[in-house]
Amino acid sequence: MARINDHYLKLKAGYLFPEIGRRVREFTSANPEAKVIRLGIGDVTQPLAPAVLNAFRSAIDDLATEDRFAGYGPEQGYDWLSQVIIDKSYKPLGVELKANEVFISDGSKCDCANILDIFALDNIVAIGDPVYPVYNDTNVMVGRTGEADEKGYYKGIVYMPFTAENNFVPELPSEKVDIIYLCYPNNPTGTVATKEQLKVWVDYALANDAIIFFDAAYEAFITTPGIPHSIYEVEGAKQCSIEFRSFSKTAGFTGVRCGLVVVPEELMGTTASGEKYSLNKLWNRRTTTKFNGASYPVQKAAAAVYSDEGWMQVKATIDYYMENARIIREGLTAAGITCYGGVDAPYIWLQTPEGMSSWDFFDKLLNECHVVGTPGSGFGPSGEGYFRLSAFGDRENVETAVQRIKAKWGK
Ligand code: MLT
Repeated sequence: MARINDHYLKLKAGYLFPEIGRRVREFTSANPEAKVIRLGIGDVTQPLAPAVLNAFRSAIDDLATEDRFAGYGPEQGYDWLSQVIIDKSYKPLGVELKANEVFISDGSKCDCANILDIFALDNIVAIGDPVYPVYNDTNVMVGRTGEADEKGYYKGIVYMPFTAENNFVPELPSEKVDIIYLCYPNNPTGTVATKEQLKVWVDYALANDAIIFFDAAYEAFITTPGIPHSIYEVEGAKQCSIEFRSFSKTAGFTGVRCGLVVVPEELMGTTASGEKYSLNKLWNRRTTTKFNGASYPVQKAAAAVYSDEGWMQVKATIDYYMENARIIREGLTAAGITCYGGVDAPYIWLQTPEGMSSWDFFDKLLNECHVVGTPGSGFGPSGEGYFRLSAFGDRENVETAVQRIKAKWGK
């Protein structure tokens, strides 16, 4: 009989969002009349921008013709997409990149997981707590960790608490680490880091030959001037950072699927014998072997995000979600609930009322207000006593959810 990958057995329960889905299904089947408002998983609700849809449709029409038909594309993505991303999204930040440093993918979740392929298992990895669960669970799956302790910390991973006390920017680890996951604007706390704060990490990485995995999936939601949209805005970051970006939240592609990874040419790792080796080359080798590229219509749709018309429409939807974030943040704050985030990110991180545990609050909110959110403890032990609400709902639902929470807990 084939042996399984036993490391999977170390994982705690199911993946967070399917577990929430299971509890919500159980509730709705027992209470079919309840109008449940879902502000749990950060899934978008607004339709694709018309300019993006037009490009998508016209790319599908291309596939119906012999002369414009597209078969296998470049595994790394079409140059016309990489180039427009560089021109429209990186150049304005003062960041110069080459098309071969941008790898287009079918989404950032897979990229954050797949990147582990090109790193040795004995690297010491530092992960936030609370954190997007993919970083933690994929390290467990590949066998980088031992078992979890009773709190949920896996042996072998260095956890960096993101707390209100440190303003959600962790301290440098006291032991030397090789790989550091940073996500700003942060999921789940909705908070951001300044350029000076990121520089501390870049300097650490340069001094310790470490690599930063910088997840910038929510960069388009930044509203405060001066907050960095990319780690490469920090001097020296190209020598120590891989950046992940996504069209999921920016342009409503959660169902369409498109993301990107930036692996600069100057970024090096070391071989077992201590020689430097290009991570761009390795990632390219991995990509060409294991991936056949995001689909042609999806890449056409993604490119249309950067047209003048496309960006105007996409930006209007981002503004709509950020207005939702404001409504949630201000509504709950007025009700006496302590909230973080929601200014430069579409997530509000709130302290559970009456000192409730995160899952107790989840159950109470679902049962009594018919509102779904995400328990903070699902993102890591330091998330206990916190709760995440997503701003990706539609306006009416967001307003109703806030009213229901205020009616229940407002002072
Ligand atoms: C979240 O709710 O944290 C995200 O939607 C999950 C994801 O992007 O995979």
